[in-house]
Amino acid sequence: MTTAAPLSTAPARITVPRTRPALGDTGLAARAAYVLRGNDLGSMTAAAPRLYPHMWSWDAAFISVGIAQLSVERALTELETLLGAQWRTGMLPHIVFSPRSTGYFPGPERWGCAELAAAAPAGTDTSGICQPPVHAIALMRIVEVARRTGGEGLRAAEKFTDRAWTPLMRWHRWLVEQRDPEGTGRITLHHGWESGTDNSPRWDGPYSRVHPGASLPAYRRRDREFVADPSHRPSDGEYDRYLWLVEEMRRADYDDAAVRRTSSFAVEDVLTSALLALACDALADLGEELPHRSEDVAQLRAWAARFRAGVVASVAPETGLARDRDLRAGRWLATETLAGFAPLLCGGLDPAAERRLRDVLDSERWLGNPGLFAAVPPSTAPGSDAFRSRAYWRGPQWPVMAWLFGWAFARRGWPERSEAIRREGLRLVGDGTFAEYYEPFTGEPLGSLDQSWTAAVTLDWLC
Ligand code: SER
Repeated sequence: MTTAAPLSTAPARITVPRTRPALGDTGLAARAAYVLRGNDLGSMTAAAPRLYPHMWSWDAAFISVGIAQLSVERALTELETLLGAQWRTGMLPHIVFSPRSTGYFPGPERWGCAELAAAAPAGTDTSGICQPPVHAIALMRIVEVARRTGGEGLRAAEKFTDRAWTPLMRWHRWLVEQRDPEGTGRITLHHGWESGTDNSPRWDGPYSRVHPGASLPAYRRRDREFVADPSHRPSDGEYDRYLWLVEEMRRADYDDAAVRRTSSFAVEDVLTSALLALACDALADLGEELPHRSEDVAQLRAWAARFRAGVVASVAPETGLARDRDLRAGRWLATETLAGFAPLLCGGLDPAAERRLRDVLDSERWLGNPGLFAAVPPSTAPGSDAFRSRAYWRGPQWPVMAWLFGWAFARRGWPERSEAIRREGLRLVGDGTFAEYYEPFTGEPLGSLDQSWTAAVTLDWLC
């Protein structure tokens, strides 16, 4: 557990200037559109021009939300491409590789899915793991935009919802059946990459129990060629473990049951679980108007209730924060990261517990920290021992997470909170670099620039 350091030790809270050049709304929107068009590879959008030159599953969902502001049809194409790479099991893979792009490691050869995995799609290269299920959330948002704009876009969105229904149901069912076979209401991950929050301190305990074998094939990282300062990226030790877990899955031929049995990483993720609850409800909402979907809608509502309950059951009595659970060690993981607020996203807490958790979010430990450049949740609490202000998921603020919190808060019936996050999120991205993540006290852009999902959520905020 990360212990709470006194607030007075939070780094660089007062001395750092809080000014930074900013574009106006019109300039920001124009540049966001320019970035999305620049990263467009045809039927998919690269997650980032150099660091991530392929399609990532949860990136694609958020990207489609932004593209909808430019063209509903093109936004639907993004989701269609991802669904086209669905595995026969129902899994949506975390990467769909573009044949037009090279330079990313691990690429299709290292994953080896085409050779090893019976369920991998024919004719499309993918990775062999998943990412958080935010796709129905994106579809719901696209449909909202289409309803506002009407015309051909609306007809296309309605037709697509019908076409995407079964693949999305199969995706959710795969998560429920293969990643929660015991019915705990929490999704188990077998790789930190599956969480999307790769090197979050949430995974430090579980990764300390992953021991890369001598048989780990040699590899060369490419990611650090594309970021200004390599220390913003995960370390070599972390990468060895990432690659070892891939090796273990290859040895299990990516068979779901075999991976569950053999992976040295098995962790229940509360954030993914909350997102599944939200996504099930979002899809069910879309299905409410379609009488022939009523059975599926009832199933989706039941799944949503199950995962809400699983998230709520993870809450630590001492802190009020939700916890992940390391299945290999049989212990709860009480870290202070934004995943702790998962119950605020999906609901389900009793009113007193929910008030308490909202107070934690508003406190100086989080959004109320007076040194923040913008008051959106940092990936890790600035006062915690695990906090590193520039290191990927160990502290920086991610605009896409801010968007998700804002979207969920609006849905929870908290419009002021949602609007405050939108306003502060726009402050964070206001320099128009569309960085992957930002230093919380200075607003310095970090990681990859021209990141598609950052541009996308900016466009949605500005619409
Ligand atoms: N986010 C990972 C990376 O950094 C892959 O999913 O490459």
